[in-house]
Amino acid sequence: MNYILTEITDAHVGLIRFNRPQALNALSPDLMEELGQALLAFDADPNVGCIVITGNEKAFAAGADIKAMANASAIDMLSNDIIAKWETIRHINKPIIAAVSGYCLGGGCELAMSCDMIVASESAKFGQPEINLGIIPGFGGTQRLTHAVGKAVSMEMVLTGRMLGAEEAKDYGLVNHVTPVETYLDEALKLAAKVARQAPLAARLGKEAVNKAFELSLHEGLAHERRLFQMLFASEDQKEGMAAFVEKRKPTWMGR
Ligand code: CAA
Repeated sequence: MNYILTEITDAHVGLIRFNRPQALNALSPDLMEELGQALLAFDADPNVGCIVITGNEKAFAAGADIKAMANASAIDMLSNDIIAKWETIRHINKPIIAAVSGYCLGGGCELAMSCDMIVASESAKFGQPEINLGIIPGFGGTQRLTHAVGKAVSMEMVLTGRMLGAEEAKDYGLVNHVTPVETYLDEALKLAAKVARQAPLAARLGKEAVNKAFELSLHEGLAHERRLFQMLFASEDQKEGMAAFVEKRKPTWMGR
């Protein structure tokens, strides 16, 4: 890997760090290819219970790589469909947390919003500044941002490039926790470790069910949730979890 660093922590968290500091972690096609490979590898690894994606203190990511797109024609964008590579994150079953500090802009903000939770440092700046380049967001910025912060704020961000500071982003519901810059990654890793300790199938299906709330009608969403709930009664972990409660002991999860 040239543009990302990966490791698995003792707490079974798969950590992915963007490593293009000289370009504020701009998300080039090669970086996104590596991110996709790392996500798929962690998703398939039984030793990983939760994934954290981070950048560095100055930038989570300042967006898609503008230099890689500057001379592209519409047909290039259509035929190469560089954004298609970004879709991998949508197919990852394990929970993903974005640990964000500094610039989180354009595709960077869209990627953070594709994660399941966001922990931000006080210096984080969230924005969709594509309008300044004569384009609009291309990986869900107009959709996920609107779901997260509502029409008024989303419209202003997309139409003027206005950025949200960390506290503001938390007030609007985009971010789970805000911490001092020194501890944002530790906080994200702690949260990830907590998720990684849960019953793996329940965590996977809990993530799936919450995400469906953005895609289905309430009627369909409730039916989907009910089926997943019922299905978990086929798992050993459901038997173990309930037996442990009754026997007043801690459960041991098997992930099956
Ligand atoms: N793509 C490519 N390179 C980038 C980049 C990007 N998105 N963002 C920053 N860089 C590069 C700069 O070109 C610069 O490189 P050089 O030293 O070789 O010139 C280096 O990173 C440092 O950047 P700056 O000198 O600009 O740093 P700054 O502190 O003065 O400004 C910034 C920081 C405000 C974030 C500014 O870099 C900026 O505005 N970046 C672009 C943000 C943006 O427009 N993002 C949206 C991209 S389009 C997109 O993401 C489409 C989509 O929806 C998928």
